[in-house]
Amino acid sequence: MSFQPEQNVDLAELTTFKIGGQAAFYTVVTSADELPEIFAWLKSNNLPHFILSGGSNTIFDDGTFKGVVIKIDIKGFELLSEDEITTCIRVGAGENWDAIVAKTIDLKLSGIEALSGIPGMCGAAPIQNIGAYGQEIKDTTVSVEVFDTDTGVVTSLTNAECEFEFRNSTFKATQKDRYIITAIILKLSKLPASIPQYKDAISYFKKKNIATPNLPQIRRAILEIRRNKFMDPAVMPNAGSFFKNPIVSEEIANKIMADNPSIKLYPEDTKIIPLGGNKYKIAAGWLIQELGLKGLELEKVRIDPNHALVLENKGGASQKDLKELVSKIQDSAIKKYGIALEPEPVIVEF
Ligand code: EPU
Repeated sequence: MSFQPEQNVDLAELTTFKIGGQAAFYTVVTSADELPEIFAWLKSNNLPHFILSGGSNTIFDDGTFKGVVIKIDIKGFELLSEDEITTCIRVGAGENWDAIVAKTIDLKLSGIEALSGIPGMCGAAPIQNIGAYGQEIKDTTVSVEVFDTDTGVVTSLTNAECEFEFRNSTFKATQKDRYIITAIILKLSKLPASIPQYKDAISYFKKKNIATPNLPQIRRAILEIRRNKFMDPAVMPNAGSFFKNPIVSEEIANKIMADNPSIKLYPEDTKIIPLGGNKYKIAAGWLIQELGLKGLELEKVRIDPNHALVLENKGGASQKDLKELVSKIQDSAIKKYGIALEPEPVIVEF
């Protein structure tokens, strides 16, 4: 067998949070064809694997992973088919997400423009059903090509089989760790795009007096809104939104509203969104601010002073340091409102 992974590789630099110890073995995969041999090697050596994509949603353990970290770097961009109003594209899992968004906009295709500026690679996008400014990848996904580690073959999952939910999919839930995404197939629209129906975007175009922006204008708007809001991981390492926006009961929502009588419900404001069925989605960033924790600093980690949903590594932080901050936030949310805040990035324990 010719598979020869690298040995004793530092993991922190492979992620945007810059946290983590080492991998005993590490390899970069550039084609799905390499996977069967790697999995045969893993099996014969009885070792575990961990799939790494862009590293923008991964927080590694401080110790040593005894198996193989497999970085997916499978490239490729193809136009598969088109009709009068749609075009289907196939994109390799290792293509940079935002570069592909830019490319689809150059091709005058809409459907993922509001997802401009999201860090990471295309293969990771369906795992947590990335979403922003009213679009989610589930809305344009036709199918996802995968290597099935159970059977050792490359196959494909339909949109329904992906079981997409808010920041969730079968890849994180019922079939966690079974599939390795090798490519995604998206169906995009040739019809004119419209302003994302989201407060920040609506006020951006109102200010500029643009009623029917084109795709490049929408992309520019989203990139500008994100730049002003989210800390650049190159400046201070982070993983974007750290907690999922929790869905709570009417009873909890009423308590939050009683404590904050000036808050208006969505669409007038985006802090508390009624979902129907006596359920409410709460903006976790605002909740953390309301708990008085925005800007809280520990020695090596902090809550961003401008957007409380973003936790940051001030330099040299360990996963242990971060977990201490996470626990403080979670304890506070439980104590005041009985809300269990769930981290959105993958916190890997070896
Ligand atoms: N807010 C505060 N204080 C804060 C942070 C937020 O009051 O410190 C308020 C905002 O003013 C707003 C509300 O909370 O009224 C919601 O905040 P924001 O508009 O920034 O959106 P979000 O709920 O924090 C979500 C996604 C982001 C996505 C944006 C835009 C989640 C967990 N986060 O953030 O996705 O970009 O909406 O659509 O769903 C990601 O998943 O990593 C991510 C960045």
